[in-house]
Amino acid sequence: MVRTAVIPAAGLGTRFLPATKATPKELIPLVDKPAIQWVVEEAVAAGIERVVLVTGRGKGSIEDHFDRSPELEASLEASGKWAQLDQVRAIASLAEVVSVRQGRPMGLGHAVACARAALSADETFCVLLPDDIMHPTSSLLSDMLAVTARTGSSIVALKIIPGPAISAYGVASVDPQSDSDCPRLVDMVEKPAFGDAPSDLAVMGRYVFTPAIFDAMDRVGPGAQGELQLTDAIRLLCHEETVYGLPFTTGRFDVGDKLEFLLATVELALEHPDLGDRFADGLTALVKRKGFV
Ligand code: G1P
Repeated sequence: MVRTAVIPAAGLGTRFLPATKATPKELIPLVDKPAIQWVVEEAVAAGIERVVLVTGRGKGSIEDHFDRSPELEASLEASGKWAQLDQVRAIASLAEVVSVRQGRPMGLGHAVACARAALSADETFCVLLPDDIMHPTSSLLSDMLAVTARTGSSIVALKIIPGPAISAYGVASVDPQSDSDCPRLVDMVEKPAFGDAPSDLAVMGRYVFTPAIFDAMDRVGPGAQGELQLTDAIRLLCHEETVYGLPFTTGRFDVGDKLEFLLATVELALEHPDLGDRFADGLTALVKRKGFV
């Protein structure tokens, strides 16, 4: 049973400046919830009970978001705003949230390694990158956890990314003899040049790892962009024990990218139980008025 999710949240959010100058990118809202809350809710829906946030300087407000807020709660109680009070309390009881700090941004692999002290020695755990938001109906994480429950092995999420965009990702080589619905990884490379990519299978920000990933991480030196890359640790791991990939096609938004963030906001707003219908009317009128249709 995997009960802990590690969420690296120490990045500087440079792709989303100027919004992220003083606000952690993980707290930028999608409709009415910060991006990281969508991710924590996804983890909880898949059975996760404990979240280890890897944060850094200037990111304390992420911890505050998942903590109790006595002054706010007292004020909502005094004014009889019961629905908002329930909402605020529910966030603080979503999961047991602890945090560790990454003193310097030294790469994703280093960030995940910082969580080691907050996990039991023999604990298999999952990693969710908060730039990748999954649609609430996606079963990706549950499906990955089911593979680990069945096999005891690590697994990473894979998506086909055609063309030069592949060089923004970790790219997997898989064993062609293995099951194409859940292939075995044979190699990995972080952010290859388009022409050097071994496949079009990009690793997305959902992973389940056995604790052996930490020993692999200990042996990794600076890689792509001079950083300690998680991909390089997965590369070592898949040479030493079975690591699966789970290909999926739909339901992922890269909310670190401004355009995808806007599209995700629109899609999730259209599905919002209170806002959806009115938003659809307003949006339809707006695109007509602006001459887009
Ligand atoms: C990170 C990982 C990369 C992975 C990607 C998924 O890259 O290093 O291997 O494919 O997340 O979104 P980043 O987006 O932080 O550059």
